[in-house]
Amino acid sequence: MNCTIKKNLLSEGKTKKIYTTNNPFEVLIHHTDNITALNGLKKNILQNKGVLNNEITALIFQFLNSCGIKTHFIQKINNREQLCHKVDMIALEFVVRNIVAGSMSKRLGVKEGVHLYNPIFEIFYKNDKLKDPLINDHHAVFLEILSYEELRIIYSMTSKINHFIKKYFLDKNIILVDFKIEFGKNYKNEILLSDEISPDTCRFWDKETMKKLDKDSFRMGSKEKVFDIYMDILKRLNVS
Ligand code: TMP
Repeated sequence: MNCTIKKNLLSEGKTKKIYTTNNPFEVLIHHTDNITALNGLKKNILQNKGVLNNEITALIFQFLNSCGIKTHFIQKINNREQLCHKVDMIALEFVVRNIVAGSMSKRLGVKEGVHLYNPIFEIFYKNDKLKDPLINDHHAVFLEILSYEELRIIYSMTSKINHFIKKYFLDKNIILVDFKIEFGKNYKNEILLSDEISPDTCRFWDKETMKKLDKDSFRMGSKEKVFDIYMDILKRLNVS
């Protein structure tokens, strides 16, 4: 029997609300229908997007837990909420690129679609005022966000996560182009994969048609097709 009691709003991000529970080491994460892009400059509401992302994220984190990756995810509680280990979020976004797209394509003038046989990892400093700049390991250590040893642990986890989910998606005819992940530390100071993995935080292309199956259609101007695309991803993940 599930006896989690939702208590107070602890924090609110662009697409999620975090609530305390009766257990001081656990939180409830609530997925809203907000959809944002371009660092929050573009915002809208897409009815029931939170339901889809809650389900998609839950499936992916369950899979990663079963692969032995330490994550914050405990269980899905209802349509919009999941129970997670409470962590202090690390102020970095880790981006993994398997194929050139998005900001890397623009920044380096490389055509979208070039395959990277060695995946490229990038880190971005989560700081709204500075618009989340791209930084390197030495900056992260200088800013006292992490130690070199903690970065080593995170890169090792990131590499395993990429290995597992690239194959997981490919089995569903989805190419994982790139994605963003975040980590947090629990009360024992252990590093856990946290936040979410969903079409909001990944670039997916259909393996047969190369059609974009993610938030890029919203980034490029339309929210109309986004719900159908997210629904398509969920359907594919539910087929074993
Ligand atoms: P980018 O090409 O815009 O840098 O994005 C790389 C990947 O990271 C892409 O899958 C989208 C994801 N991402 C986020 O989830 N949140 C963000 O704030 C950014 C900048 C990227």
